[in-house]
Amino acid sequence: MAKKVLIAYYSRRGENYVNGSIKNLKLGNTEVVAQKIKALLPDADVFQIDTTYEYSKSYMTCIEEAKQELHD
Ligand SMILES: Cc1cc2nc3c(=O)[nH]c(=O)nc-3n(C[C@H](O)[C@H](O)[C@H](O)COP(=O)(O)O)c2cc1C
Repeated sequence: MAKKVLIAYYSRRGENYVNGSIKNLKLGNTEVVAQKIKALLPDADVFQIDTTYEYSKSYMTCIEEAKQELHD
């Protein structure tokens, strides 16, 4: 029996860090990679992991939230 593949990924859309600057991404970086893997493995299932609460859409504020979580 052929093995079933699951592509599970977590990725941030919107403001994100790309090649040294903040850009507004339609798709997150990891999401783009997940789609490339899916194109190579069309039978695979794709599952986008989400957070239990929404982080700030502002990249800089999100950084502060992440720092606070690490501190806590
Ligand atoms: C809260 C936060 C902190 C990040 N910190 C860094 C960093 O210190 N250095 C870096 O090169 N990229 C940093 N990034 C950018 C991510 O590493 C980059 O976008 C990576 O591709 C993550 O995948 P994603 O775009 O699918 O979310 C950060 C992104 C977020 C949201």
